[in-house]
Amino acid sequence: MSNLRDENMERITNAELANAFIEEQIKALREQVGDRKVLLALSGGVDSSVVAALLIKAVGDQLVCVHVNHGLLRKGEPEQVIEVFRNQMSANLIYVDAVDRFLDKLAGVSDPEQKRKIIGAEFIRVFEEEARKLDGIECLAQGTIYPDILESGPVKAHHNVGGLPEDLKFELVEPVKFLYKDEVRQVGLALGLPESMVYRQPFPGPGLGVRCLGAITRDRLEAVRESDAIVREEFRKAGLEGKVWQYFTIIPDLKSVGIRDNVRCEQWPVILRAVNTRDAICATIEEIPYSVLHIITDRIINEVAGVNRVLYDITPKPTGTIEWE
Ligand code: XMP
Repeated sequence: MSNLRDENMERITNAELANAFIEEQIKALREQVGDRKVLLALSGGVDSSVVAALLIKAVGDQLVCVHVNHGLLRKGEPEQVIEVFRNQMSANLIYVDAVDRFLDKLAGVSDPEQKRKIIGAEFIRVFEEEARKLDGIECLAQGTIYPDILESGPVKAHHNVGGLPEDLKFELVEPVKFLYKDEVRQVGLALGLPESMVYRQPFPGPGLGVRCLGAITRDRLEAVRESDAIVREEFRKAGLEGKVWQYFTIIPDLKSVGIRDNVRCEQWPVILRAVNTRDAICATIEEIPYSVLHIITDRIINEVAGVNRVLYDITPKPTGTIEWE
C-alpha cells in the first residue's frame, strides 16, 4: 500500500466528514484484522487515543491497550486514560505502573540525550514484556499520522523508541496514517473523546523528564508536575487554553536563597514557558497578562513544596529552544 495520501482525499473539516471516515475505517479495520488480536501502546495523546477509540468501535475487545505510566506524565493523565478507556469505553486496558523502574534507571543521569535514550529504551522493554505475556497477538496498532510519514518514515519519531525485538513481529495497523493533526482531532471529537484529550497541547515523549533539568529527583519531579498542573488550570480559567500552542514549567537543578517563616532558606525556582508556533521550528512568546502571571506565581510559591521563585522565560526560538533540554 502506498505511503502517500490520495490527492483526491477530501480534508476532514467537520463532523459529517469525520463520521464518514469513521464508518469507512471501521469496515477497513474489520477486514484487515479479522478475528485476530491487536496491541496498542496507549499514551493518552490524541493520536493513540483516536486509534484506540476507532479500534474499540471496529473490533471491541480484540484490542488490547497498554498504558505505561513511566512517572513522567502530567498530573491526572494516567487517571484520565483509565477513566475514558476502561470505565467509559470498556476497553481491554492494561495499566502498567513502571514509575519506580524508570526513576531508578534515570537516577543520577544528567545528560539530556542520555535521559531520552533511557526513557525510550525502557519504554520498549516494558512494552515488550507486556506483549510477551499476551498470547496470540498478531497485530500492532500505531498512532502514526501523515506528518510522521512525511517527516520521518513509518515509525513515529516522537515516541523516542527504537523498535521491538526481531522475534516480536507484528502486522501494523495504522488507521490515521493519512490524516493531518486537525483531521485526527475532528475524528476524535466525532468518536466522543473528551475535548481535553482531543485538544491537548503537544507533550514530548520523555515527558516531564526533560523539564526536571539535570539528574531527575523525585522531589523536583513532583514540583514540576504540581506547578505544571497549576499553570494549566490558570490558563484554562483565563481562556488561554487552545490559544497558546504550548505552556509548561521547568525546574532547574539549582537553588536560590529566599525567606520562609522569617527564616532564610534555599529553594528552587520554577520557570514558566508559553510559546506560539506553527511548526515548532521557530516560536514566539505569548504575552501572558500580568494578572495571570501574578495568580500563577502566588499559587506556585504557596502550593508547590520546595519552590520560592517563579521566572517567566520570554526568549523566542531561536535562540531559545521550546524545551530547556
Ligand atoms: P524544541 O525544544 O526542540 O522543541 O524547540 C520543539 C518541539 O518538540 C518537542 N520536543 C520533543 N518531543 N520528544 C518529543 O516527543 C523529545 O525528545 C522532544 N524534545 C522536544 C517540544 O515539546 C516542542 O513541542
